[in-house]
Amino acid sequence: MALDSPIITLITGCSSGIGFELLKLFNKEPYRIVATALPESAEKLANDPVAQSDRIWIRKLDVSDFEKATTIVEETNSKWGPIDLLINNAGISYRSVIEDMTPEDEQKQIAVNYLGPMHLIRQCLPDMRRRKNGRIINVSSVGGMMAMPTMASYSASKFALEGATESLWYEMRPWNIKVTLVRPGFINSIAFQKVLYSSKRKSGASSSSYDSHYHCMTKFVEKLMTKSSSTSASVARRIFKTARMERPPLRVAGTRDAWFFYFIRRLLPRALYHKLLYISLPGRKEWGKKK
Ligand SMILES: NC(=O)c1ccc[n+]([C@@H]2O[C@H](COP(=O)([O-])OP(=O)(O)OC[C@H]3O[C@@H](n4cnc5c(N)ncnc54)[C@H](OP(=O)(O)O)[C@@H]3O)[C@@H](O)[C@H]2O)c1
Repeated sequence: MALDSPIITLITGCSSGIGFELLKLFNKEPYRIVATALPESAEKLANDPVAQSDRIWIRKLDVSDFEKATTIVEETNSKWGPIDLLINNAGISYRSVIEDMTPEDEQKQIAVNYLGPMHLIRQCLPDMRRRKNGRIINVSSVGGMMAMPTMASYSASKFALEGATESLWYEMRPWNIKVTLVRPGFINSIAFQKVLYSSKRKSGASSSSYDSHYHCMTKFVEKLMTKSSSTSASVARRIFKTARMERPPLRVAGTRDAWFFYFIRRLLPRALYHKLLYISLPGRKEWGKKK
């Protein structure tokens, strides 16, 4: 990318959290940003002072709506030209034990965190390959390398994103397309208030045997998030820095704890790691006591 020509950047999930912070960072030369937001959040974003810029173009997009995603890439091509930088940031997180997930819940989790990003990547690749230039940054999670109870489906979606991104890194080498995963760990944000519960749990059809799993994990995750020194803004800065690196690595830790978890996961023997993680889960002694 020549520095004097605009860098056309598509970022998903810009209405809050990391996406919103990215919008502030990229709102400068040479970037032109297609900022997507869910249809129900787009108006609020459009009225925000941060979005009042000729460099920002807000489009309504649910990333699981593949047709709409294709249209937005085509519209961007007509307005500004092909996309140089794609940041798949939008994501959702179910808090649910496996037994409580319905096929519809599973599909929603996978569609937003994995299938949607894959579809957008496919829309951008032909132009990136033709021009032998481009960058793709997928926002993963520490949950994409270590799974925890009540987060199976979320982890599955991020493990899938990680696996596919790793393949893409190899596939894109001949075309100079830079592919990176940014992995945030726990972030001091209100994202935990946005976790989704399965329809079975919400309707009261879930077995009460799992109450202590939900109770302990909710408290545990909320505590780690509120005590974290990382914020949506600090993760966004890491992503921004990655987007400007000449040779970005395949994996970037988005927070300090992500480094820590990465080394624990790599260095400890598997059996020991699983045992240690299990015994460190607060309240797990209550699990399985209720029939
Ligand atoms: N927060 C954390 O602790 C944490 C840790 C590790 C990884 N991450 C990852 O970081 C990314 C950003 O999360 P965040 O922390 O900034 O949380 P967030 O504030 O909840 O932001 C997620 C964004 O995605 C949007 N979104 C949700 N469903 C969507 C859909 N179907 N189509 C398009 N957009 C959709 C949300 O829109 P609305 O605001 O309208 O709902 C929101 O703008 C996610 O991929 C997440 O998995 C977060």
